[in-house]
Amino acid sequence: MQDPMEKNQMDQWKTSMFLYDSALKEISTKIGILNNEFIHVCGHTPIEHIKTRLKSPESIVKKLKRHGQEVTIQNMVEKLSDIAGIRITCSFTQDIYTIADRIARQKGVTVLYVKDYIKCPKPNGYKSYHMVVTVPIYLTDGPVETRVEIQIRTVAMDFWASLEHKIYYKFEGNAPASIQAELKTCADMVDLMDAKMFALNQQILAGGQE
Ligand code: GTP
Ligand code: MG
Repeated sequence: MQDPMEKNQMDQWKTSMFLYDSALKEISTKIGILNNEFIHVCGHTPIEHIKTRLKSPESIVKKLKRHGQEVTIQNMVEKLSDIAGIRITCSFTQDIYTIADRIARQKGVTVLYVKDYIKCPKPNGYKSYHMVVTVPIYLTDGPVETRVEIQIRTVAMDFWASLEHKIYYKFEGNAPASIQAELKTCADMVDLMDAKMFALNQQILAGGQE
């Protein structure tokens, strides 16, 4: 027979993961509707892709340990903000703020905090807009505010971040200085490209005048 303590933990785990999964569905639906409204009103959408993911049990355990926390379900719920994650890629930097604002204004969405790595890029060159929000998930006993990490970035920023991520893992966080410098150069090129593409698009919208 199963130990009652173990059973209780298992139930807590299942409920937590059910909440995170539901929160992802809620936020995805809201963003999907936002996307459709953009198309309906403007004829196009700034959103290129939406990707959702639930953090794996292995990554949850690894992160808690890395932060010096005991591996418990309570710590997972209280200390980690990125168990439910959603990444939105869009065309232009300016779109990021429009999308973030539209999400924040949705009923039920509470913004806990924002990390704007576009205004303040990380020293390695990482750029992205992070927003940690909660949405209420309605259970029989009442609503449970559930956290979701939303990352919003341009396609160019996303391209850079995926390569940096691969390099980070390959060298276990200790990439040679030359590679780090190359990545920083690429990050500057991403900035330049985002700015140039935006200017070009503005020119096209204005009717192609100089
Ligand atoms: P993590 O422990 O990495 O989750 O960081 P954090 O809890 O301090 O939050 P932060 O907002 O800094 O980063 C959250 C997420 O953003 C990470 O899990 C990555 O998905 C992404 N991220 C942050 N920094 C970098 C970076 O330097 N490179 C890449 N490729 N992704 C990053
Ligand atoms: Mg994370």
